[in-house]
Amino acid sequence: MIPESFIQELLARVDIVDVVERYVPLRKAGANFSACCPFHSEKTPSFTVSPAKQFYHCFGCGAHGSAIGFVMQYSGVGFIEAVEELASAIGLPVPQEERQRTERVKQAPLTEIMAQAMRFYREQLKATPKAVDYLKARGLTGEIAARFGLGYAPDDWQGLQPVFPDYRDAALIECGLVISNEQGRRYDRFRDRIMFPILDQRGNVIGFGGRVLGAGEPKYLNSPETPLFEKGRELYGLPQARKAIQEEDTVLVVEGYMDVVGLAQCGVENAVATLGTAATDANVQKLLKLASRVVFCFDRDSAGDRAAWRAMEVSLSHLADNKTVEILQMPGAQDPDEFIREHGKEAFVHHTRNATRLSEFLIRELVKQSAPVTAEGRAKLVHLAKPLLQKIAAPILRVQIVKEIAARAQVSQAEVETQCGLQPLARTRYAPAQMKQRPAPSSIEYKLLEIVLQKAEWSARLPLELINRELPEGATLIVIADAIEHGELPAGGLGMLLEFFRGTPHEPLVATIAKALGDEADSPALETVFTDAILRLRQAALKASIDELTAQARHGLNPQQRQRLAALLAQKQAADRATQGNNPLI
Ligand code: UTP
Ligand code: MN
Repeated sequence: MIPESFIQELLARVDIVDVVERYVPLRKAGANFSACCPFHSEKTPSFTVSPAKQFYHCFGCGAHGSAIGFVMQYSGVGFIEAVEELASAIGLPVPQEERQRTERVKQAPLTEIMAQAMRFYREQLKATPKAVDYLKARGLTGEIAARFGLGYAPDDWQGLQPVFPDYRDAALIECGLVISNEQGRRYDRFRDRIMFPILDQRGNVIGFGGRVLGAGEPKYLNSPETPLFEKGRELYGLPQARKAIQEEDTVLVVEGYMDVVGLAQCGVENAVATLGTAATDANVQKLLKLASRVVFCFDRDSAGDRAAWRAMEVSLSHLADNKTVEILQMPGAQDPDEFIREHGKEAFVHHTRNATRLSEFLIRELVKQSAPVTAEGRAKLVHLAKPLLQKIAAPILRVQIVKEIAARAQVSQAEVETQCGLQPLARTRYAPAQMKQRPAPSSIEYKLLEIVLQKAEWSARLPLELINRELPEGATLIVIADAIEHGELPAGGLGMLLEFFRGTPHEPLVATIAKALGDEADSPALETVFTDAILRLRQAALKASIDELTAQARHGLNPQQRQRLAALLAQKQAADRATQGNNPLI
């Protein structure tokens, strides 16, 4: 847990304009800044950043949030990582509350243990001629072996024993290096294998893949999932490939450790591998952030074909119109490593340039499954396309694919859209955010909340007893007033309030209002609207009490009640006079 006070300090110290500008060039537009939205594809800028509100908002796709939200959305990282990134950019150390600290202390030795193991395996490689020969025979130089930290796990049940002071340390089991059998006997997981260390984005060793030197089962043994290692999230070879990926704005995704290493050996350095699993959502999200072109390379076998289909399915949901995903099915029976060794870099690069676009792949595979040469075949084609079309996140691409399917099925585009239950795009995710919103509730509390979100310190002036807590906007108002009163929420921009409400039931409402607000924060009218709204709140309360007493009057009122009613009526008259003809703003 990062303390709430730190989030507030962070948001007070960073300027959202600087933060966004690091990623997206901004143009001044009045009091705000604007740009083409980084979160959807567009030609005219509908993305604005408000320095006054410390808030960004895209009128095109509805993306919005604080500086923290921007980093989360842009880099695809979680809340904590975004906070850490922003804090480190301004040199602010992130304090950790107790629970987190103990977790970190517990994790630190795990990464250290893994690093020690990697060093040991590397030394062992140098001392083991048969392992060196194996790598040489596979065409690898010492330079590439060092670049990927390749090593060798000796043929020894307790090879790691001399590496660690206590071989029985539970941490060795926790990080997957040591296994304990039913009798409690402990032994090394990796024995007599070439070791491929798996690094995370920061370069920490989080796991290993170990290959037998010759034939043998299993060919590759991998670290189990551990607190450090979640297979579906990681990409093998990313730290080594990062620079080349950036330079070429393309990332190649291959199936195996040896493909990454073999390609790098031959000068193709922008390749990463999924870890023995089909591409996951997390993989694809990360890949699409790394480069605008992702090329999946698959072996031409049934496993490769299944993996290609799966990669297509997953990619459809994460595509944007400014990104391309391509599928390269290796010619012949060779995998990328074997191919490049035999035919060289140029031939391999040539194939990647001619990889199949995702849309083309989709149509081709569907047509294979149901040839549109009969009425039935054409009908089935649309039927098969349905679940795929429904996944497509990129609107323009979807239209293109729908048109292709329609042409082949000999029906109209509209018919495909209806049959596949596709929402017209104008009303789905690319509709301007305002169109999607229901009209704002007309309660006085809503008006007050709109103002308090701009002037949180004014919440001290709210007559809390009169606010209807049953209304969501009333409940939010009370939370803000309470937090301000207890010093939990320093007065600051809207971004600060949004972060304060992150993950709470109030968040959607606050975000909706934040998006709809103009930049009238400093307008003198705000004060008038605020006092007027409070007056109206009082009037409404008076009216409710009067109504209650009048209803009772039918059964007779005692003298006190009668007196109270008269007083209330007088108050109401005074209040009515005060607001008469006032304020068209409400
Ligand atoms: P492949 O069987 O295609 O091996 O497995 P490869 O990459 O061509 O390896 P070499 O060239 O024979 O050395 C591809 C990937 O699948 C996972 C590994 O991640 C491997 O890199 N795999 C394969 C395993 O995890 N275990 C296995 O037993 C086999
Ligand atoms: Mn291979």
